[in-house]
Amino acid sequence: MRPRVTLKVATSLDGRIATSSGESQWITGPEARNQGHALRAVSDAILVGVETVLADDPRLTARLPDGQAAKDPLRVVMDSRLRTPPFARLAQAGTLILTTREPKPVGEAEVVRVAADTAGRPAVGAVLDLLGERGVKSLMVEGGGRIAACFILADAVDAIEWFRAPIVLGGDGRPSVATLALGRLHKAPKFRRLAAEACGDDLWERYERLS
Ligand SMILES: NC(=O)c1ccc[n+]([C@@H]2O[C@H](COP(=O)([O-])OP(=O)(O)OC[C@H]3O[C@@H](n4cnc5c(N)ncnc54)[C@H](OP(=O)(O)O)[C@@H]3O)[C@@H](O)[C@H]2O)c1
Repeated sequence: MRPRVTLKVATSLDGRIATSSGESQWITGPEARNQGHALRAVSDAILVGVETVLADDPRLTARLPDGQAAKDPLRVVMDSRLRTPPFARLAQAGTLILTTREPKPVGEAEVVRVAADTAGRPAVGAVLDLLGERGVKSLMVEGGGRIAACFILADAVDAIEWFRAPIVLGGDGRPSVATLALGRLHKAPKFRRLAAEACGDDLWERYERLS
């Protein structure tokens, strides 16, 4: 069975996830980041795109306050051409790198070839099937914008955890969701807000897919 997919984003008021230079650490404050770690701790797997690995070199571990123990989720990178550097923090055991090319070693990470979409990139359906086969029931997609867009276009996002910081990054900032090429408003994917609450200086909005 395919996992339930939650998209998690941390943005400016105007929905940007990074500046034009790609700087995103840290848009939101410590309370929102702690909440993000708590969400990781209840997810079986966390997924990002290779551009996020190259920009942020994330660990994607669940780091809870006061040293509370948490099981680290499986880390997953969508990386068609295996651009993840072997020295990246994610290039280690506990990480699954999904490519559409002939697999080759990337540090200690497991590299698996999956079916390609029409652009030659890992197809979202194939990624979800593989993760489901591996027992992943809950997947948190942490971006960046192009990965968010491909999951939304595949109609695969069940829920959204949106952390919004009171800053403005402008139109040259990186979009939280890349091009969807909708054309018409009625084609926009729709979500229902479940909650909105303050999280330090930020706003934490929770949504579920409206089907
Ligand atoms: N504030 C936040 O919440 C947050 C979170 C994450 C990232 N960020 C920021 O976001 C920026 C990176 O975002 P981004 O949109 O440029 O890149 P991204 O979404 O992290 O990665 C995009 C790359 O993933 C690969 N990919 C593999 N399968 C794909 C598929 N099916 N569809 C689309 N792409 C696929 C593609 O590279 P190949 O063609 O080579 O495979 C693509 O260029 C960084 O600046 C980072 O700091 C912010």
